[in-house]
Amino acid sequence: MDFVEVVESIREIYDQDQTPKYDMIAQRFFQEYNEWPEFFARAPGRVNLIGEHIDYSGYPVLPMALDRDTVIAVRRITGQTVHLKNVQRSKFPEASFTLDPKFPEEHSWISYFVAGYRSVLEKIPEEQRTGMLIMVDGDVPIASGLSSSASFTVCSALATLYANSSGKISYKEHLPEDHPKSKNILEDYYVASTRITKIQLSELTTRFERMVGMACGGMDQAISILAEQGTASFIEFNPIRLDPVPLPSGLTFVIANSLTPSAKVLTVATRYNKRVVECRLAVALIAKHFNMPSIPKTLKEVQEELGRNFDEMILVVTENIPEEEYTTAQLEEIFGTILINVVKDIQFADVVLNNNTSYRPRQRALHVYSESKRVYEFREICSNSKDGERLGQLMTESHLSCRDLYECSSEQLEILIGLAMEGGALGSRLTGAGWGGCCISLVRNEQLPELYAKMLKFYENNPLVTDDNVIFSTLPCRGACILESKYFTWAD
Ligand code: GLA
Repeated sequence: MDFVEVVESIREIYDQDQTPKYDMIAQRFFQEYNEWPEFFARAPGRVNLIGEHIDYSGYPVLPMALDRDTVIAVRRITGQTVHLKNVQRSKFPEASFTLDPKFPEEHSWISYFVAGYRSVLEKIPEEQRTGMLIMVDGDVPIASGLSSSASFTVCSALATLYANSSGKISYKEHLPEDHPKSKNILEDYYVASTRITKIQLSELTTRFERMVGMACGGMDQAISILAEQGTASFIEFNPIRLDPVPLPSGLTFVIANSLTPSAKVLTVATRYNKRVVECRLAVALIAKHFNMPSIPKTLKEVQEELGRNFDEMILVVTENIPEEEYTTAQLEEIFGTILINVVKDIQFADVVLNNNTSYRPRQRALHVYSESKRVYEFREICSNSKDGERLGQLMTESHLSCRDLYECSSEQLEILIGLAMEGGALGSRLTGAGWGGCCISLVRNEQLPELYAKMLKFYENNPLVTDDNVIFSTLPCRGACILESKYFTWAD
C-alpha cells in the first residue's frame, strides 16, 4: 500500500539542483495572485526504453522517469472556484471553473487538467472540496513522445488530491506493522493522502486521460507515479505491478527530438486508436480460428487462452492471418456481424471505424508478440549479463518492428536514428507513440562525443530548434510527489 510522498527539499527529487525553476514558478504565482503558493505537486515525463505499443495489449513495458516534469504551484482558497494559470500564458490561456468541472468541448491544455482533477474527485467528499489558485509550468517537451500529457494529468490529480486533503500524514503511523518498510523508514517520512494508493492513482488517471481522446494503455501514468530514483521500471498491467530494473553502468541513453510533433489526439482516429482497434481485430481473428466461445480482450489474453509462448504465437499469426489489408466488408463477412460489434467496448472505436476502410491485424499482432518477447529479454540482460551489445540490438529490432510492422515511425525519425547509428550507438529506436517525437539511443560512454557530433548535424540550421532541449540524457528520476513550500525562504 504505497502512497504518494510529501518531500521537504528539492534535493530529494533531482540529481541536479532545480531551485531556480521552483523560485521562478513561485514568483510568477505571486505576480498573478499576490500570494505565495502553499505547496507544489510535480510529476515526471518518461522515456520508454523498450516495449512500444504493447501496454494496451496487456504486456509489460520498460520505461524510466525523466528529471523533466510538470510542476504545479497551489494555494487553497475559500470559495467554489479553481483558477488555472500557466507560466507560458500566451501559449496556454488561463481558465477558471467550478469545483465540479465538465470536460471542455474543445480540446486544449485545460482538458488534461480537468482529466487529472476529475480522476480524484470521486474520492473527495463534496463538503471537503476547496477552491484553488494554480500556476502550471513544465519542461517535458510537448508532443514529443516523452509523455508531457500524462505528466500533466498526473500532476493535476496530485495537486487536487493534496489540496483537498488535510495535510501530510506520517507514513509510519499508517503502515501495518508487518509492512517491509515499517521498520526502516525515517520518522519524518510523509505521504500526501491515504485515500488513494499510487496504483489506484495510476489507474484513475489513465481512465480519465482516455476521456481526452486517446485509448491509451497505462504506461505513462504508471511510470510517472511509481518510478523509483536510479532505476528503470518493468511495469506489468491488470493489475499494475512495478519491478525496478538496474541500468548497466558505462552506458548512456541519449534522447533526441525529431522535431516532428506527434500531436496524438488530433490524428488519433487514423493512428493510435486505429492500432488499438487493429490489435483487437487480430484477437478476434485468432479467436475465430480456434473457435473460442467468446473473444478475449487483448493479445495477451488470447495467448494465455492458447497456452503458447511468443514464438508459437508468432507462428499462429503468420499461418492464420493473411498479409493483405482487410477491408471493413471482408472483416464483417468473416465475423458475420457489423464491425462495431467486435470492437464496441474500445473507447472511440466508432470514430476509428468511421475514419478508416482497411486494417492490418497481422502486422500489428506480429509486432506485439515480438516486442513483448524483447522486453523480457531486455530486463533479463539488465539484471544479469549486462551485455550492452545485445541491449542495443534489441532496441534496433524494436525500432524496425515499429517502423515496418506497426508503421508508426516518420521520415525525420529515420534520419535521426540513422545518424545515431553512424555515431556509434549500440542501438536506437523511436520512443513513445511515434509518428514523430523522440528517439532513444544506447551508447557506450566513451562513444558519447562522436554520437553527439553526428546527431547534432540534424539540428544545424534547423529553424525548428528553439532551445537546448533537443538532445539530452538523464538519470532515472523518482515518481510524482508533493513538495511543501514552507521549506523555501521566500514563503515565510
Ligand atoms: C502512448 C500511450 C502509452 C503507450 C505508448 C506507446 O504514450 O499513452 O500508453 O501505448 O503511447 O508505447
